Amino acid sequence: MEEDPIIKKVKEIYGPVIKSVPKIRSPDLMIKYLKERYKLIVKPYIVYLTIAAFMNNRPVLYEGPPGTGKTEIGEAILSLWAGRTAFVLPCSESYDEYRVIGDFHPAMAMAKGFNEESFIPRPLLAALILDTGVLIDEIRRSNEGFQNLLLDIIDKRRIIVPELRKTYYQYSDGFQIIMTSNPLDIAQNELSDAFMRRIIRIEFRYPTPEEEYEIIMLRLGDLSQYLTDGIISRAIKIVGELRRKAIYKPGTADLVSWLTITAILAKTRNKSKADIHDLLDAGRSVLLKDPEDENIVEELLG
Ligand SMILES: Nc1ncnc2c1ncn2[C@@H]1O[C@H](COP(=O)(O)OP(=O)(O)O)[C@@H](O)[C@H]1O
Ligand SMILES: [Mg+2]
Repeated sequence: MEEDPIIKKVKEIYGPVIKSVPKIRSPDLMIKYLKERYKLIVKPYIVYLTIAAFMNNRPVLYEGPPGTGKTEIGEAILSLWAGRTAFVLPCSESYDEYRVIGDFHPAMAMAKGFNEESFIPRPLLAALILDTGVLIDEIRRSNEGFQNLLLDIIDKRRIIVPELRKTYYQYSDGFQIIMTSNPLDIAQNELSDAFMRRIIRIEFRYPTPEEEYEIIMLRLGDLSQYLTDGIISRAIKIVGELRRKAIYKPGTADLVSWLTITAILAKTRNKSKADIHDLLDAGRSVLLKDPEDENIVEELLG
């Protein structure tokens, strides 16, 4: 039988960007791979719940403050689960089926009609066809129509392309979905009850100081030689205070970036270890993102 032209097109367009990775189904092994291969320290409950949801073919929602690794962890878990790199879709208000399922090349559709030839498959359809995961980032930034469309696809595990009178089905279990969201972000859309009922919600929290220390060591690699334990603990403590008091709450991502810049500053200033000046210079740039936080950042750094 001849291959469906859309499946063929998806393989041509998206095949080269999808890479093979080890396919892992055991949660403990996944935790080990997340650390060694992706430099991610992931709390076991996150991995266990996500895998349980996938085994039940249910979509997952990661909710929590910014910079806690939701996007990177989600992408890594989806990839390891499927044994292939996942797609990441960053949501915006204008997202609709044409952006994620497929649309038609305007000139070609004019000339040849709305058919397979003029159809351009987009990532959600590609993921279903290639049997790999999809990370839908910042789902609350999308509109209700888009969320309903997703629900329908997730529930029935198939995508209909009405213009082509075609339906594509999930054929194995690599096609799984993780969404991320930060419920405290301003100007975000509510997720409907129907939506919340269907998803497995997993809450992300800030890591403990010990976990953050481990993450810093893992992420900085060779650069960590420029940092003393004293400098690192000071940074972890200040970040903790800012999460309680400031408007811009630094995540682990900010902490890693602060200490990375600190170490590079020390290196370029020909010092063997970063001192407090390097820490403060980097800190002002990385931590002060909201003008209203100026006093509190200065007080904590000073
Ligand atoms: N658990 C973690 N393990 C390793 N790095 C982490 C972790 N959490 C956050 N990070 C840091 O934050 C970055 C990823 O943050 P990101 O996935 O964008 O967070 P979010 O999506 O929650 O805003 C990583 O590049 C790393 O520097
Ligand atoms: Mg994110």
